[in-house]
Amino acid sequence: MPGHFQYSCEEFVKALPAVVSAGIPAIILFGIPEKKDARGTGAWTKDGIVQRAAAAAKAKYPDLVVIADLCFCEYTDHGHCGIVRKGRVDNDETLEFYARTAVAQAKAGVDVVAPSGMMDGQVAAIRRGLDAEGFSGTPILAYAAKYASAFYGPFRDAAESPPRFGDRASYQMDPANAREALREAALDVEEGADMIMVKPALPYLDVLSAVRRRCQLPVAAYNVSGEFSMIKAAAKAGWLDEKKAVLEALTSIKRAGADFILTYHALEAARWLA
Ligand code: PBG
Ligand code: ZN
Repeated sequence: MPGHFQYSCEEFVKALPAVVSAGIPAIILFGIPEKKDARGTGAWTKDGIVQRAAAAAKAKYPDLVVIADLCFCEYTDHGHCGIVRKGRVDNDETLEFYARTAVAQAKAGVDVVAPSGMMDGQVAAIRRGLDAEGFSGTPILAYAAKYASAFYGPFRDAAESPPRFGDRASYQMDPANAREALREAALDVEEGADMIMVKPALPYLDVLSAVRRRCQLPVAAYNVSGEFSMIKAAAKAGWLDEKKAVLEALTSIKRAGADFILTYHALEAARWLA
C-alpha cells in the first residue's frame, strides 16, 4: 500500500479512466491536507482536498459513485479522529464537526459519506446535519464495527496519521469482542445508517457473517491496507500466486456475506474478473 494510491488531485483525475473502464462502480476518497492543525480544518473547508477531488471526479464521471471517508485523523496535527480537549478526544464536540464535514462533502458532489471515526452518536449527528442542509438523499455508510487493528499500519504510514499520543483504543473496538459489533451495528441502524461496514475484513469474517445475518441493510467489508500489503509482499517475494490469492481472499469475504467490498486490489481484481 504505501504510496500505491496516493495522488495529487491532478494525478487522481488522471487515474480515473482506468477505474471506470475496468467497470469499478464506486471509489472511496481519503484526504491528506497540505497542512494539519489541531481542529482538522482541512476536513470541512470548501477547498479541502476531498471536496476538490470529489468535484473533479463527478464533473468528469457523473455516474461514478464517489464515497468520502469522514474522519479527522488525517487532518489533525495530533492524529486523533476528533477534537481533543485536555488530552482527550471530546466525543460530543467532534460530532458537530463531523456534521459540518459531511455537508461540505455533499456540497462538493460526494454521493455517500462514510464516517470512520467511531464517535458515539456520529451517524445520528451526520444525518441531522445533512438533512438540515437539504441532503436528505445522501446516504451514510457506517463503520459499525471498526476494530483497533494492527492491519491499518500501511495506511497510517501513507496518511502520516498515527496518533501522536495515546492510541485509538478508546473509540475503536477490541478484537476479542464479537458481540459488541452487533450492538454497534444495531445502534447505527437506529441512528439512520443506510449501509453497514465491517473493518478489517479477513480477520473478522465471523463478525461480517454475524452482522449480515442480523442486519437488513447492505453490508460492506473493508479489506484494509495491511491485508492488501501482506498479499502484495508475499507475491513480490515469490511466495504466493498473487492473482489466485487475491481472488480467494475476496471470494471468502463475499462468502462470509459482504454485499460489496472496499479493496485496494479493486483495479487488478476487476481486470482479472473481466
Ligand atoms: C481512520 C482510518 C483508518 C483507516 C482508514 N481510515 C484506520 C486508522 O488508522 O484507525 C485504515 C484503512 C486501511 O488500513 O486500509 N479513520
Ligand atoms: Zn480516524
